[in-house]
Amino acid sequence: MTTQRILLAGATGAVGFELLRLLRARGCFVRTLSRVEANATRLLGLASEVVVADAAEPGAVSGALAGVDTIVSCLGANVSMTLRERRSYHDVDVVANTHLLEAAKRSGTRRFVYLSAQPGPGYAHTRYLAAHLQMEELIRASGISFSFVRPTGIYSALSDMIRMARAGLGTVPGDGLARTNPVHPVDVAEALAEVVAGGPDVLPVGGPDVMTRDEVMRLAFDAVGKKGLIVHVPAGVFRATSVLLAGIHPRLSDLLEFAAAVTTSDSVAPARGTRPLRAYFAEVAGARGCKSPGEG
Ligand SMILES: NC(=O)c1ccc[n+]([C@@H]2O[C@H](COP(=O)([O-])OP(=O)(O)OC[C@H]3O[C@@H](n4cnc5c(N)ncnc54)[C@H](OP(=O)(O)O)[C@@H]3O)[C@@H](O)[C@H]2O)c1
Repeated sequence: MTTQRILLAGATGAVGFELLRLLRARGCFVRTLSRVEANATRLLGLASEVVVADAAEPGAVSGALAGVDTIVSCLGANVSMTLRERRSYHDVDVVANTHLLEAAKRSGTRRFVYLSAQPGPGYAHTRYLAAHLQMEELIRASGISFSFVRPTGIYSALSDMIRMARAGLGTVPGDGLARTNPVHPVDVAEALAEVVAGGPDVLPVGGPDVMTRDEVMRLAFDAVGKKGLIVHVPAGVFRATSVLLAGIHPRLSDLLEFAAAVTTSDSVAPARGTRPLRAYFAEVAGARGCKSPGEG
């Protein structure tokens, strides 16, 4: 049997790193691609080859797909409320992944597996989700074999709730009653690994438990052993702030628009994941400095 040769973009990310471990355990050749040199040091010794480049820059990844038969992209702009990077979701997710798609076409890459996001009627129109759906369309039109894995919220994106819980105050947009079944990064990585060689065009991935947004916040309070207080902030406040920030900080503007919509409408996908949020929160709460499990 020939060894599968894979380019894994976004290998330093919450999902990408878990997938790297799974693929290497299977004996695949994995060349990683990520952007920040310091983050990529944790890949040394695990990946077969490590490439560091900003894929959103023209020409930066033109040779990255040489000699690989499959690309798996977990590359995307981070979804935490960080002020570090200002580029919009379109300018990272669509631009960088389009560069990879173009390089894949030139290199004769056989398959493109893309980590997208589960769309829901209440938030599919937002700029964050639209960037994922636009990228799906570009891959679909390329003629390359593909699978799109679409998770709901990934637990790593909820880690900030532990910080809020420690402070005893949890802010939840809207009335807190919208339902979701977030999913563990390892469960998402397993779904990606399952479709690397072939699989359905679209694979939605939800976690084991459907909860309201208030119940998610209460789980965070439980993890730190506090009763805590939930404050419901009108979603309009997030939307208005998003509009104000549009020209100043496009990333934060996109994220606030998405947060206002996704937390006030249902985001539920078939329950493929098995790992419960309660255990993940307990692990984050127990980790020094609130790092997410797996974070370096
Ligand atoms: N988190 C969620 O709740 C959630 C839910 C559904 C879908 N998704 C989607 O899943 C994908 C991965 O999510 P995640 O939470 O694993 O993300 P993450 O932890 O922020 O990881 C993102 C990865 O992409 C890399 N990257 C970002 N910009 C890059 C660029 N310009 N050039 C090269 N590499 C770049 C990062 O590299 P560096 O470490 O070098 O920055 C990192 O390896 C994203 O597209 C996200 O939208 C996330």
